[in-house]
Amino acid sequence: MRRKLAAGNWKMNGLSAQLDQLDALTAAHPDPAVDLMICPPATLVGAAAAQVGNKPLMIGGQDCHPAASGAHTGDVSAEMLVDAGAKAVILGHSERREDHGESDELIRQKARAAHEAGLITVICVGESLEQREASNTLDIIGGQLAASIPDNSTGANLVVAYEPIWAIGTGKIPTLDQIGEVHDFIRARLERRFGAGVGRSTRLLYGGSVKPGNAAEIFAVSNVDGALVGGASLKAADFTGIIAALE
Ligand code: G3P
Repeated sequence: MRRKLAAGNWKMNGLSAQLDQLDALTAAHPDPAVDLMICPPATLVGAAAAQVGNKPLMIGGQDCHPAASGAHTGDVSAEMLVDAGAKAVILGHSERREDHGESDELIRQKARAAHEAGLITVICVGESLEQREASNTLDIIGGQLAASIPDNSTGANLVVAYEPIWAIGTGKIPTLDQIGEVHDFIRARLERRFGAGVGRSTRLLYGGSVKPGNAAEIFAVSNVDGALVGGASLKAADFTGIIAALE
């Protein structure tokens, strides 16, 4: 069975004082029935990992470079994230795809490097409102899955997050049927490409305006194994409400 996962993406939010939220989270969930992950900005990854220590809360990065080291000013490698104590990295978030022009091919290279370094990747896919309204959602998701997930993926190192771009930070979410349709589609595509073993053990997260108040109904949808949460992961009290709905 797939263990559920509640992952928080702090995006470009958080100075050192924000790390207090990690203590609040680990205190509220000393022995969680689900996996927990927080991905702070790169500046806080090392301190966050040190603060969490052996407690059951994974720390992750929000991006990495495909190379292990070299002349890439401003970038961070997968190896560096591991060295800082990270266990995971988010890749291909729509904000990276849009703000930094990241292609599926680049995301696949990053994910391959991250897997080689021993990180879990949370690879994000999702359609724009325009694409959904043109009934292109599954074509777009299918293309992103095929081109951005590397061959060295396993059920243990790959997590796929479905994040409709129009639902991120907007308070809007797709209907539960729409979420189920996309998650079932992702599951089928993974099984077709990687076989039943990897296909069925890979966790699929929904992301986009998940809050304590809507989490339970989203988690009841088929093939939803947890959530990738932005705004509501910044305060431990809010994130705890989402974790409770998953447990
Ligand atoms: O990666 C999580 C994210 O994009 C969703 O953000 O603020 O809508 O939960 P938010």
